[in-house]
Amino acid sequence: MKSFVAALVLLGPAQAGLRFPCSTLTFQRLDPVVQPGSRPSTHVHHIVGGNAFNATMTGDVGERATCTTCQMSEDFSNYWTATLYFKHPTNGSYHRVPVLPVQPLLGGSNGAQGGITVYYTQFDLSRDNLKQQPIKAFQPGFRMTVGNPASTSRPPVGLTYQCLQGQSRGAELSDFPTKPCSGGIFTTHHFPACWDGKNLDSPDHQSHMYNTKRLNGFTNDPACPASHPVRVPQVTYETTWDTSKFNSLWPSGTPNPFVWSFEGTSGYGTHADYMFGWKGDSLQRAMDKSECFYDGCGSIKKQAMAVANQCTVKDMVGEETDGWLTKLPGM
Ligand SMILES: *[C@@H]1O[C@H](CO)[C@@H](O)[C@H](O)[C@H]1NC(C)=O
Ligand SMILES: *[C@@H]1O[C@H](CO)[C@@H](O)[C@H](O)[C@H]1NC(C)=O
Repeated sequence: MKSFVAALVLLGPAQAGLRFPCSTLTFQRLDPVVQPGSRPSTHVHHIVGGNAFNATMTGDVGERATCTTCQMSEDFSNYWTATLYFKHPTNGSYHRVPVLPVQPLLGGSNGAQGGITVYYTQFDLSRDNLKQQPIKAFQPGFRMTVGNPASTSRPPVGLTYQCLQGQSRGAELSDFPTKPCSGGIFTTHHFPACWDGKNLDSPDHQSHMYNTKRLNGFTNDPACPASHPVRVPQVTYETTWDTSKFNSLWPSGTPNPFVWSFEGTSGYGTHADYMFGWKGDSLQRAMDKSECFYDGCGSIKKQAMAVANQCTVKDMVGEETDGWLTKLPGM
């Protein structure tokens, strides 16, 4: 994306957080945040990160995992979203949409396989504001979600779709694009950045957090409210869904044929889950610094994506999620 690279250059010395690729770990019907212990959970997820990923996850994930698909090798967190499927407009079969690494990947991070690009920002893309606003890293056991698969109204600010065409990412939409996108569909999930300071989770996995986000994109979120006074890193996921091989099966003028794995009728159900798993104080060390932007800084360990790509988890559900399927797994 030339325009994106140009925008970064214009920002001057960038200095506000981490941005790194995580290859795909697995596609499975597991959800240790919303449906712990369920094997399978209701719908298929696209999961990246550490190999402690399991139907149930408790305690210090960063101490239990032994590898990660993320470039930051001390990051054993898990990051996941629903999986995108193509629903054939005439015969009704479903096919999983492949995932491409988000481009550009800077600093030798090429070689990611599919996956999600993850950000932890301190303020916006060009400033950290650390003197005014220290950032508190998440604690072991912390988890959260954003968005809701059952939603029938516009998702929260920060959950968007973009239609990739050539070098352009296009406008940020709150629903699926209505025309074929030659370069795929780009989804973004910005999480809230204000924490109540006490609870590692909450019954709805959201009320221990507060979203002050008013604009899409990497804009600074307004100050945290008294109920949720602790500023945590602003976590963002970006995913590129390679819809290109399905575009010729989408008859012109007919409705969007892409569906999330929970068969939402619109794109409003877009959502994402986060399970913290950085080892020791590594995330806090990164967040206390200004110079860790993009591919990290000296004190934060990295690995080659060729190494990251070797990290795997077992198939714990044992069902086909790819190829032409007569119904969505679990639906
Ligand atoms: C996943 O959970 C099962 C059941 O509790 C356990 O036997 C298994 O060792 C766990 N796997 C990992 C990688 O933690
Ligand atoms: C639907 O169409 C696809 C692509 O042409 C084909 O591969 C698949 O087998 C079809 N499904 C059924 C149930 O006919």
